[in-house]
Amino acid sequence: MDRQAEKKMLYSFTKLADVKEKGATVIVKGEDCYVWDAKGKRYLDGFAGLQVVNIGHGRKEVAEAVYKQMCDLEYWHSFFGFTTKPTLELVEKLASLTPGDLNVPHFVNSGSEGNDSAFKIARAYFKNTDKCGKYKIIYRDKAYHGMNMGAISANGFYGNRVPYEPLVPGFLRIPHCHCYRCPVGKDYPSCNIDCAYALEKMIQEEGPDSVAAFIADPVQGTIGGYVPAVKEYFAIIREICDKYRVLFICDEVITGFGRTGKMFGIEHYPGVKPDMMVVAKGLSSGYVPLGAVIVSEKIADVLSEDLFMHGYTYGGHPVATACALVNIDILQREKLPENARTVGAYIGEQLNSFIERFSFIGEVRATGMLYGIELVKDKKTKEPFPVSFATEAMNIAREKGLLMRISTGGFANLLCPPLTMNKELADEMLAILDETYAEMEKKI
Ligand SMILES: Cc1ncc(COP(=O)(O)O)c(C=O)c1O
Repeated sequence: MDRQAEKKMLYSFTKLADVKEKGATVIVKGEDCYVWDAKGKRYLDGFAGLQVVNIGHGRKEVAEAVYKQMCDLEYWHSFFGFTTKPTLELVEKLASLTPGDLNVPHFVNSGSEGNDSAFKIARAYFKNTDKCGKYKIIYRDKAYHGMNMGAISANGFYGNRVPYEPLVPGFLRIPHCHCYRCPVGKDYPSCNIDCAYALEKMIQEEGPDSVAAFIADPVQGTIGGYVPAVKEYFAIIREICDKYRVLFICDEVITGFGRTGKMFGIEHYPGVKPDMMVVAKGLSSGYVPLGAVIVSEKIADVLSEDLFMHGYTYGGHPVATACALVNIDILQREKLPENARTVGAYIGEQLNSFIERFSFIGEVRATGMLYGIELVKDKKTKEPFPVSFATEAMNIAREKGLLMRISTGGFANLLCPPLTMNKELADEMLAILDETYAEMEKKI
């Protein structure tokens, strides 16, 4: 292998200078919850790649389905009324899984494209229905919805935005919903869920006739560090959206396909039906890239009156949709959402015990198989460590053979293993983490 090549690539969220100095980690093989690098080192994949590989690595069944589809038809598109058989099968499959009348997908290649498409659809919907210029999109502080210009315009972290300004106009930010660091300085439940009512305040201030959509993920992702909302939150959001005719876009890019212990994260909020749902990652477990924005029939009916002037060359790629079908089949057959709930709860309990054992763990957030471990200098004041602390813990764990991550905000370590993780592997992951934090404790 040419080791020069690794110095000639722009890596995501990486200083190229660091790679030039230390070299890249070349991953060559994966099997269930493990991956191996080119030097033969084995890692327990505590982050499912990038929160992607819900069914675990190295499934021959997926490779075979993909191979068969490639032999039958390697590519076709979804422009001008064309489509393919696996794509249509996936349309039906998704409709049988998604809540309410979210029955009409538009296929894309990633979560960013899905969210950007959702913003465009929200604007086009209101151009068709109201002719009134409802176009603004409201998002939350600490939100991550992807990296294209639309998605970073709805990003709640300055580091993701500043290098690329000016961003897309018409995006507005409200507070996040992280109780541990309550943005309005209150306590639950006496706070009356003010963070949710911040949406109503923003709509009123801006004028309801100008606001098209609100975007949120059921468990806020990698910037905040896997923060679930309190149980009342999304019902209030739904009510406000209905009151002001604002569309609710639910970003299920991480939380979809069993990750939280249910097929979709929003199902933890009974009765709440989004107007659009954006999925990617676990939809195909990343074996082939695929994403979708799934819109309600009400929205599709309005859009169907005109040419839908949007689409990507590879949207609805038959190899990707064939891959998603077998992926969903495995998720259901092996009851992986249930495993995320049961083994997930066990991991959550064990991690919670870390709060007592380590002086610097302030909060553990566990939803299904999503874990945010908040690292603080002082448990009373909740003052966080600099980013370097979580990064050092991540690096030590990696040395010991566990892959995890830090939240982009830098206050937390994050775990998001494949949903196939059993109790034995969970214990292995917890043991490495325990050793890692014991080393960190000595450094304070
Ligand atoms: C919640 C959420 N939305 C959207 C995205 C963007 O997805 P992609 O990287 O596939 O564009 C991500 C990626 O991590 C995500 O976590």
